[in-house]
Amino acid sequence: MRRKVIAGNWKMNNNLTESQNLISKLIEGLGKEKTNCEVIICPPFTSLSLAASLISGSIIKLGAQNMYFEENGAYTGEISASMLLSSGCEYVILGHSERRHIFGETDDLINKKIKKALSSGLKPIFCVGETLDERESGVTNEIIKRQVYEGLNGLSEKDLDTIIIAYEPVWAIGTGKTATPNQAQEVHNFIRNLISDKFSSAAAEKIIIQYGGSVKPDNAKELLSQKDIDGALVGGACLKAESFIGIIQAA
Ligand code: PGA
Repeated sequence: MRRKVIAGNWKMNNNLTESQNLISKLIEGLGKEKTNCEVIICPPFTSLSLAASLISGSIIKLGAQNMYFEENGAYTGEISASMLLSSGCEYVILGHSERRHIFGETDDLINKKIKKALSSGLKPIFCVGETLDERESGVTNEIIKRQVYEGLNGLSEKDLDTIIIAYEPVWAIGTGKTATPNQAQEVHNFIRNLISDKFSSAAAEKIIIQYGGSVKPDNAKELLSQKDIDGALVGGACLKAESFIGIIQAA
């Protein structure tokens, strides 16, 4: 049985005071929960070290929302893997659709970032997903296959032990439109088969595949009960402690 992993992607939200308030509420709420799922929060860079100290001793783990693949140097505005590690991160989201579509990140760049994260000891949460146009033109599988294969290009089966894949249909992110449990399950199963073809059936059986796109407490249970859905990457609903905890409870 695969574990369930619920991650909250705060995106560009919460200054230090707001971060402190949200984390305190999460710790208070989760303190009473008996949960066997893994819980990760991904605040903005500026809140990472504060978050690391606040979650210490709790069940919550820390992730970042992005990083650059170079070690250090003249890359104004970028953040390295070692900076994230020294801020207390265990995870890093890579290839989020907002990075792909607003900031022009390519499959090749995302692949370089995944390799750097792995060689540095960070666990990537690697996002893939089709746009509405792509879904409507019937090329969803083609797009997902390209993103998965190019993103994981050059990796070994062993590397997959520390990678989480997040399937996030772009048309469901922040729109209130969720993929139906069937639509999501279909793509999750397709991704698992891609992993089986490229790596092995054992690797496919083990890999955690999260769903993301307007996950809320009231749709989480049905999505998470699908055979190939192992968790959720949550945006909007992770900004309120009650709704993020509601999703964790559903898992
Ligand atoms: P959403 O975002 O839950 O607000 O749709 C999900 C994501 O972008 O990870």
